[in-house]
Amino acid sequence: MSIVDYIASKPRLRYILFGGKGGLGKTTLSAATSYYLAKKGKRVIVFSTDPQASLTDIFEQRLFGRGEVEVMPNLYALEIDADKRIAEYQDEIRRKIKEMYGFEEIPPEIDDYIGASSAEPAMAESATFDAMVELVSSGKYDYYIFDMMPHGHAIRFLSMAEILDAWINKITEVRESASEYQELAYVLKGSKGGLAGEDLVLKELKGIRERLGFMSTMMRSQEHTAFFYVLIPEMMPILDTRKALEMFSRFGIQLSGVIVNQVYPVELLEQPGVPEYLRNRIKMQQEYMEQIRREFGPLIRGIVPMLDREPKGLEMIGKVAEILFGGGAG
Ligand SMILES: Nc1ncnc2c1ncn2[C@@H]1O[C@H](COP(=O)(O)OP(=O)(O)OP(=O)(O)O)[C@@H](O)[C@H]1O
Ligand SMILES: [Mg+2]
Repeated sequence: MSIVDYIASKPRLRYILFGGKGGLGKTTLSAATSYYLAKKGKRVIVFSTDPQASLTDIFEQRLFGRGEVEVMPNLYALEIDADKRIAEYQDEIRRKIKEMYGFEEIPPEIDDYIGASSAEPAMAESATFDAMVELVSSGKYDYYIFDMMPHGHAIRFLSMAEILDAWINKITEVRESASEYQELAYVLKGSKGGLAGEDLVLKELKGIRERLGFMSTMMRSQEHTAFFYVLIPEMMPILDTRKALEMFSRFGIQLSGVIVNQVYPVELLEQPGVPEYLRNRIKMQQEYMEQIRREFGPLIRGIVPMLDREPKGLEMIGKVAEILFGGGAG
């Protein structure tokens, strides 16, 4: 089934994710898909979850850190400035710590700790995650297209959700029973409880868990969400796709399909004067195409040729959309 038919067969589809190894075409295909849907009159946003966001390059418009920018009618693009969000995060943490513990100023050793945390790669992922939740919660668009970070990270993203969830559950449990005892102690001592700070911590944790729950439900919904994996006809991407299929199924996520990108047109072989170098490359790709058909056959949702130049700018994105989605992308 082609990607057009797949999307048409899911009337309640709202979230479309593109994953895959680095540099194979996630951003290009995310842009092309959003272009196609916008041309169909849908209100669409494309969001890059990669800290090395490249929507700015592909749309040839300044998007970084500028919020939701309309790149053509109905089509919006969002490239967050993760560092700026982390800084905002840290200010928020400082504010909350002051509020919870009644500090006038944050003690320097705590402040150092907060500062050091910005260097953690997980912080950037967490900021991205929050931006994703925020965007989806806004409910402003018909379709949300997510250009996911390269494969390893996407898996980590999901497993982080899983691990954090278990962790927060445990902490919440412990805190809840602790606060019961504490309450009892206060009653026995006849004093008034000072649990407001504790409640705030618990509220924070529950907030995080709700956001994670929302995301993991979203990612698992076959009805609302499609997850496409991008590969090219080469050995490593095939192995990577195989591994991803296994890992995703372990997280209860079913892949909606694969898109094979950067395929050299086989017709070139029939043309006279094709250099041996290119001929070999085409033949190699065709062998891997066979393997892809054998291994992922029913999951293939589209095949996109290697174009004669980098698809950049709306016109070229339109061209990719037309190849992937057929004439309807006009
Ligand atoms: N079908 C194609 N024909 C020619 N060039 C392509 C094609 N698809 C993608 N490219 C080019 O290949 C490069 C990688 O594509 P793209 O940026 O979409 O990949 P990505 O998976 O988003 O990469 P990253 O993991 O680095 O974010 C880009 O320079 C892009 O213009
Ligand atoms: Mg990219």
